Amino acid sequence: MSTARSHTVPQHVAIIMDGNGRWANKRGLPRTLGHKKGVEAVREAVRIAGDLGIDYLTLFAFSSENWRRPEAEVNDLMGLLKVFIRRDLAELHRKNVRIRIIGDRVNLRGDILPLLEEAEETTTRNTGITLVIAFNYGARDEITRAVQALAVDVAAGRLAPEDITAQRVASRLDTAGIPDPDLVIRTSGEERLSNFLLWQAAYAELVFVPEFWPDFDRDVFLRALDVYARRDRRFGGVTSAPTLAVGS
Ligand code: IPE
Ligand code: IPE
Ligand code: MG
Repeated sequence: MSTARSHTVPQHVAIIMDGNGRWANKRGLPRTLGHKKGVEAVREAVRIAGDLGIDYLTLFAFSSENWRRPEAEVNDLMGLLKVFIRRDLAELHRKNVRIRIIGDRVNLRGDILPLLEEAEETTTRNTGITLVIAFNYGARDEITRAVQALAVDVAAGRLAPEDITAQRVASRLDTAGIPDPDLVIRTSGEERLSNFLLWQAAYAELVFVPEFWPDFDRDVFLRALDVYARRDRRFGGVTSAPTLAVGS
């Protein structure tokens, strides 16, 4: 299904899907309808990313801080995740999509965890785009859990403190084995990371678009990719742009 990725298309795009509530508010609708419409935008985003040959698409679906929302809204969001996986898993599997879930799984509701595990297990051998769903995810929580796991190894004498390298820390994060995002897009005009991929996005290009998440479509995606393609990524070095021949 996917075409070869052109060199200006990022290998890994991560999206902070923001603005469902404001999308609904603007129309005098309950926030829950904004979330519902947001699921359609998720389907669209996965489709477009696959068509463009993007290898990894990470979507921030529910943060470890989103539990602070009213119980009814939290329940709506949990319900939508369940509906999404139940309705879309077969289709995603058919399209060769591999699903990975990042975030804390401990204390997740008993009706959610098995679904997430089923989604991962069913698609584990697929070779198309990897869809990473960040659910109950917070970067500080993720890094803290990685540090705790390393501390256990040190305390047990399996690991010397000086062997804790950046690479080893990365290998204990939920994203182990997934390349760092090249591009992080946030919708709705907010310009912050809200505890998303703080370690992995160290050198990601950040693109903020004004559209609310339910309005995310091919045009918005392509515009963000266009901004990305014109950025000069230096990774602390000097410009990678080819130098012009002088005097020719
Ligand atoms: C994003 O939309 C969805 C989640 C955070 C789960 P919001 O619900 O944050 O919408 P706004 O930001 O209030 O408009
Ligand atoms: C970030 O959006 C979390 C998700 C998109 C899942 P929020 O709407 O929760 O972030 P803040 O509260 O505006 O920073
Ligand atoms: Mg928001």
